[in-house]
Parts: sequence; C-alpha cells; structure tokens
Amino acid sequence: MLRIDKLLANMGYGTRKEVKKLLKAGVVKVDGTIVKDAKIHVDPKAQVVTVWEEEVEYKPFIYLMMNKPKGVISATEDAVEETVVDLLEEEDRIFDPFPVGRLDKDTEGLLLLTNDGQLAHQLLSPKKHVPKTYEAIIDGEVTEADVAAFQRGVVLDDGYETKPAELVIIRSGLRSDVQVTITEGKFHQIKRMFQAIGKRVVYLKRIQMGPIPLDETLEPGEYRELTDEEIALLKGEDKK
Ligand code: URA
Repeated sequence: MLRIDKLLANMGYGTRKEVKKLLKAGVVKVDGTIVKDAKIHVDPKAQVVTVWEEEVEYKPFIYLMMNKPKGVISATEDAVEETVVDLLEEEDRIFDPFPVGRLDKDTEGLLLLTNDGQLAHQLLSPKKHVPKTYEAIIDGEVTEADVAAFQRGVVLDDGYETKPAELVIIRSGLRSDVQVTITEGKFHQIKRMFQAIGKRVVYLKRIQMGPIPLDETLEPGEYRELTDEEIALLKGEDKK
C-alpha cells in the first residue's frame, strides 16, 4: 500500500503539491470512487486508479539512495541477519527493490536500491568501469609509494591484479585517512588492496558511485528517493 499522492507523483502527475490540487479538483478515482484525501493508501497492483477517467499505469520502477549503516547486510532477505531491505518502509518495499552491488556488513555509506534490473546491470557491469569512491581509515602510515602502487595495480591474495585505482592521502600518521576510487567491484576489494600492501582497513564508507555522491544529510540507516536529475545522470541520459 502506498499513499495516493506519492503514487501519482511517482507516475509523473506532478509534484506532491500539484497532485494535491488534482485530488482536490475531484478528478482522481480509486475503483470508481472519487478520492480527495492525499493521505489515502492504495494498492496499485490490486486497485484501479484513474485521473480524468484515464487509468494510471502502474509504473514499477523505484530508485533509492541509502546511507547504509554498519551491521546490516546488502541483501534482500536473510534468515538471521538484518538486511538493507528490512530498513525500508513498507510503501517502498512493495516495489521489490534490491541493492545495486554489495557493501560489506561493516561498511557504511552510499548504497543504491532499485528494481530496475537494466540500470543495476549497467552500473555493475565490469565493462562500464563505473567509478566508486570510498573514504577509509587505515591502520598504519599510507605513503606516496602506496599511491603509486594503487596507480599501477596491486596483486590480491587470489593472484588477481587490480586495475589502476586512485589513492588520495588526506592525513597520514599511525592511522591514516584516505580516499580511494576504484572502477571494479571484486569481493572485499578495498580491504584486499590494502592487505596487498601490508595495511589494514579499520573503517570504510562509500561516498560516491558513478555521478552520484552520498547525500550527507542522510544519517546511517536513512534513505530517500533519487531525484529525476539523479536518475537521468545514472542512466547517462545527460550525455544524449
Ligand atoms: N571494498 C571492500 O573491501 N568492502 C566494501 O564493502 C566495498 C569495497
């Protein structure tokens, strides 16, 4: 079930404010009955919603940005662990979104969730080289030699040689603050890249994926819908 004003706004009938005016005007019907209350919940899969007697086509796509907190796993369901989908409101969960790629249980930050399989595939395809940027705290002193090693590519524990990655030292010391940008997504990649140079990641947060930075106003565990502009950027529609 989701609110009628949200449903209509999602389907392109205007902003929530504009949709409220439509409702007030008495042009919206649910199962043949005029509905004026924006707070009414409808089930778009089971009920027929019309605007000016025209049936509203149920648009199934949803695009969310979450600031993933530590302690939850990037999956849709799990018998034991809490998942990122468990953190969603029921009115968003009914669209069956899934996480676009994975962050480790102890990693925080930007996680996109959608039910648009084509977009997810585009973002995750190794051929597309979508850059992902992480903030990390490293146990140990990160040096310019490490920056050069990441630029060349390092050899992971399974023999895989990583593509060039950009390592930026924000502050170097016994513990170092860094930013790393990679264009691939191997299992535990950032942690294993530091392991390859003899260092350990003690904190990891994703702050950007492709053209989309994490909305820093989101507290860990909070999420919001992507704006139309953000969706267009992700789909690469800005380049057309
Ligand atoms: N690299 C990691 O090691 N962990 C993540 O969660 C993401 C990238």
